[in-house]
Amino acid sequence: MRTLTFRNDDTMPALGLGTWKSAPGEVGAAVREALRIGYRHIDCAAIYGNEQEVGAALAKGMGDGVARDDLWVTSKLWCTHHRAADVRAGAEQTLSDLGLEHLDLYLVHWPVALVREPHSPLEPADLVSLDEIPLAETWGAMEALVDAGLVKHIGVSNYSVAKLEAHLDARIRPEMDQVEMHPYLRQPELVAFGKEHGIHVTAYSPLGSGDRPDVMRGDDDPVLLEDAAIASIAADLGATPAQVLLAWGLQRGTSVIPKSVNPERLEQNFAAASLELPADAMAAIDGLDRRRRYVDGTFWAPAGSPYSVASLWDE
Ligand code: A2P
Repeated sequence: MRTLTFRNDDTMPALGLGTWKSAPGEVGAAVREALRIGYRHIDCAAIYGNEQEVGAALAKGMGDGVARDDLWVTSKLWCTHHRAADVRAGAEQTLSDLGLEHLDLYLVHWPVALVREPHSPLEPADLVSLDEIPLAETWGAMEALVDAGLVKHIGVSNYSVAKLEAHLDARIRPEMDQVEMHPYLRQPELVAFGKEHGIHVTAYSPLGSGDRPDVMRGDDDPVLLEDAAIASIAADLGATPAQVLLAWGLQRGTSVIPKSVNPERLEQNFAAASLELPADAMAAIDGLDRRRRYVDGTFWAPAGSPYSVASLWDE
């Protein structure tokens, strides 16, 4: 299994299990099965609404002999907890739900702030501008979590290169940016920037997130898992399209966190860690880029929001 090495030499298994969209009632069995298969990196977040069930599954896995030190657990601070005074409460709730004493990695989930108790669905007044709660304020409180021993490493998610740049001189520079990434959205500039500045990249939705919610769905969205070029490479290698997508991400040096709640697909995805793609296949896949976001962030930019899609991605 490829690993990513952090600044203190801690290592994270590059292939992890995603738990976004894994429903309560399903996610626990998926995490237990994943641990049985050999997954040792689990990606979580408070907003996924399933951390208690994930925690119970982790406890079961550890009861069955998986050492805590061999597990890498990532979680994320939700946008309602960006004020410095709220960050620790967010982390403590996640630790309590997951039943852990520390997280291996804790990320600021989005460069977007919300009021503590937003409406559902979201109303424009729920969105708080970054002038009011600057990302630097949130980051300072994230650094304090490391000092307090609640989390080993800190990073961000959905941050552009410009937003990463603004954190380069922080006391603790972010060690990870978790972003949507797959052959239709390669983001080579972000990967190169991370490499230059010691910031790892984790690819979420590496399979194209076919089960994403309706608000993130358009009529003519291309289906990554049905891409003809990927299918042809997979057939040549005796692999599945999903395995090719994951192997491509791993071979670029990124972490990938495919979500599945299906035992066969969990097994299939894990086996992608031992698939090697030849250079011509890597190059052919690189050629598929369409700068296509499935999670495009329009849900942060309703009329009256202080955020626009352009300001979110700095594009
Ligand atoms: P399921 O959970 O039923 O396996 P992403 O990780 O990009 O968000 O993609 C998750 C989606 O891809 C889910 O719908 C998941 O369904 C599906 N999926 C996961 N692994 C595979 C696979 N190996 N082949 C096909 N679909 C998969």
